[in-house]
Amino acid sequence: MEKVFKILGFAGSLRKDSYNKSLLRAALELVPEGVELEVFDLEGIPLFNQDMENQPGEKVQEFKAKIKAADAILIATPEYNYSIPGVLKNAIDCASRPYGDNAFAHKPVAMMGASVGMMGTARAQYHLRQCFVFLSCFALNQPEVMVPFAREKIDKDGKVTDQKTRELIRQLLESLVTWSRRLTRSM
Ligand SMILES: Cc1cc2nc3c(=O)[nH]c(=O)nc-3n(C[C@H](O)[C@H](O)[C@H](O)COP(=O)(O)O)c2cc1C
Repeated sequence: MEKVFKILGFAGSLRKDSYNKSLLRAALELVPEGVELEVFDLEGIPLFNQDMENQPGEKVQEFKAKIKAADAILIATPEYNYSIPGVLKNAIDCASRPYGDNAFAHKPVAMMGASVGMMGTARAQYHLRQCFVFLSCFALNQPEVMVPFAREKIDKDGKVTDQKTRELIRQLLESLVTWSRRLTRSM
């Protein structure tokens, strides 16, 4: 019997009613059999200060430990000013340091994102992909889950009601697991 495949998910938004948190909640309902998705809240991660990188606080230590223990990572990113939010970049920076202890190294990672505009976080996602190069993680290319006009696809209770979006998230999760298993076999 194959062991449970563990995905750690987090959203680059601290907003209570975040559309990106909604994407992760939908993912929790759509995980394939034998897959466990844990959602981590970035609230409480302090601003990165390189003077302190060898003494990370409890929250950063917990975040890094969970990333390392996961078989794969799933990020739901908003788009802020055509890029990723500072909250997300800061959390990534914290988990990537100190040099030589980058929690993301060699992790398979998938992304998705929802915005209220027409681009569905495309610009933010391509910036995020750029970060993955130096982080040395293995980004899944397809499917690209870019959810535009989020207000029409996520209801007031935070449920993703759009069936096409749900199907894309399901495909993303399946592809992430397949991609990760293929990488593990080739390493
Ligand atoms: C500082 C800021 C910058 C934003 N920039 C963009 C942007 O570049 N493109 C876009 O589509 N939406 C932009 N928005 C709107 C977001 O899509 C919207 O706030 C969305 O709800 C954020 O994701 P969340 O619901 O997960 O918090 C911006 C919002 C904020 C607060």
